[in-house]
Amino acid sequence: MSRLFKRTDMCGQLTADDIGRNVTINGWVAKRRNLGGLIFCDIRDKQGIVQVVFNDDIPKELFDKADSLRSEYVVGIKGEVRRRESVNPDMKTGEIEIFASDLEIYSTSETPPIYVKDDDNVSEDLRLRYRYLDLRKPSMQKNLMFRHKVMKICRDYFDENGFCEIETPILIKSTPEGARDYIVPSRTRAGEFYALPQSPQMFKQLLMVSGCDRYMQIAKCFRDEDLRADRQPEFTQIDLEMSFVDEDDIMTMQEGFIKRLMKEAKGVDVETPFLRMKYDEAMTRFGSDKPDLRFGFELKDLESVMTGHEFPPVDNALADGGSVRGICVTGAADMYTRKKIDKLTDHIKSFGATGMIWIKLTKDGYSSSINKFYDADALAKIGEVFGAKEGDLILIVANRDKVVFDSLGFLRRHLAGELGLLKDDDFKFLWVTDFPLFEYDEEEGRYQAMHHPFTAPKDEDIDKVESDPGNAHAKAYDIVLNGVELGGGSIRIHDRDLQSMMFRALGLSDQEIEEKFGFLVEAFKYGAPPHGGLAYGLDRLVMLLSGEKSIRDVMAFPKNQNAQCMVCGAPAPVDPSQLDELYISVNQTEEAEAE
Ligand code: AMO
Repeated sequence: MSRLFKRTDMCGQLTADDIGRNVTINGWVAKRRNLGGLIFCDIRDKQGIVQVVFNDDIPKELFDKADSLRSEYVVGIKGEVRRRESVNPDMKTGEIEIFASDLEIYSTSETPPIYVKDDDNVSEDLRLRYRYLDLRKPSMQKNLMFRHKVMKICRDYFDENGFCEIETPILIKSTPEGARDYIVPSRTRAGEFYALPQSPQMFKQLLMVSGCDRYMQIAKCFRDEDLRADRQPEFTQIDLEMSFVDEDDIMTMQEGFIKRLMKEAKGVDVETPFLRMKYDEAMTRFGSDKPDLRFGFELKDLESVMTGHEFPPVDNALADGGSVRGICVTGAADMYTRKKIDKLTDHIKSFGATGMIWIKLTKDGYSSSINKFYDADALAKIGEVFGAKEGDLILIVANRDKVVFDSLGFLRRHLAGELGLLKDDDFKFLWVTDFPLFEYDEEEGRYQAMHHPFTAPKDEDIDKVESDPGNAHAKAYDIVLNGVELGGGSIRIHDRDLQSMMFRALGLSDQEIEEKFGFLVEAFKYGAPPHGGLAYGLDRLVMLLSGEKSIRDVMAFPKNQNAQCMVCGAPAPVDPSQLDELYISVNQTEEAEAE
């Protein structure tokens, strides 16, 4: 049995102020070097790393024990804090070291399959497979502690503002919110299933009907959708709902939260209120409903300067009701060779673009990919729209509006990234408001709610809900930070007639309404307050504030790109007897079998 050395200090917190103190630390061996009569060990705990020295004045048995230490052994060490002979300015504890007088080895370690250091360069799957080792890295510990801090500030702020944290169920009926549900079979009701919540949406609205007035929850959500750097199948929302409020009340409350969060978590003062921009403006100026405002390159409509030149891509796009728009990338003319421009063109083909026009303004004047159709004067007119200067690159797309916006929105941010304009410590928050109420679903040939069917239309657009749904706007808002949608919400419909009108516009039959939302519609019969809310993606918020590029880096045990948990091996087959109990038989496909 090993002795337990009761810790007096954390490794990473020792400083020159502790010189002369006798301390006891516990931790993992990060590094060991034997320099003959001296053994140096770096010992790591969640607060950081400290150097420990064993010299051969200590009993031989103890010196030999220190010599037996290997990476990731877990140890307890007693010793005196002394000033280091050679200070290490790169280490927080670099001015001091512990002169060891006793050592206990709690457990040994096999050679770890990944290095426990930040710049290890191993594949992400391997990192996720050995996540418990990966999490020992200082950067990962920092991220986990930072996440905790964000959650704590969140709970404190909303508590102080009268919100009550209430847990909503995890085993629910499917709440259709766009993505596929994860479903869980019932043992007691053959052939029936629970769904894991995509969000607590309907339950938080029920809580408003219950008189809870202000609800918050740090809630687990589950969505079976294609994964990206900012999407996980299992993620966390900061979920909120308030009664007797309008859009302004909700946004103001959130600005208070973000202001406090930025100050307490990052030491950054952000100005409130945040910029508010209508969806239509965001699209026409930035080609995106989540514009990154850290740089310019705004879109410009070029119809007036590009028509009448018998250039088919432009004329056809305009004739089909589309548009021709462009961006001017300051100082990028030299950087973007033909080859690079071709690559960009290939990329925007994934948005449906058929091509891209480029114009460069160099010391020799304008050059372009459309010289045959636009002479120097015509090119200069285009340049004037942007106020182009020598060295600028103009990129233009003509197509359906959606293709034009998606392409230019992508190019804008992509080029800003390549030009080094995306600074992690520049935080540009904004609200995007007045989203369309509906979006047309080409496949199904009908309108779908853009946010969800309980989102209220703008007062001035109520008449359009049935007569002109494509032009109706919603009391819906997103909070955006540096080109990422941090959160979204809306004012909900609490009026039954308006709700029926909404359902009719969505083409839902009475039976569909009953099946999908019956319990909420019923609750609204018994006195629903005006209410609205919002949910942040906690993972995204922590990712952006900690300057990480993927939400996986701010989650303890994320899934990989194939939605697998590399640590426990989920998803995995279950025992056939478990399936029997659930009345399930698996129809294994030939492809799955082959895999
Ligand atoms: P929404 O679907 O916009 O709204 O989700 C709110 C926020 O949750 C985050 N998010 C995700 N984060 C990681 N992985 C995912 N797969 C993922 N999906 C969404 C985003 C997003 O802005 N019930 C409504 C909110 C409301 O109306 O109050 C809702 O869930 O940051």
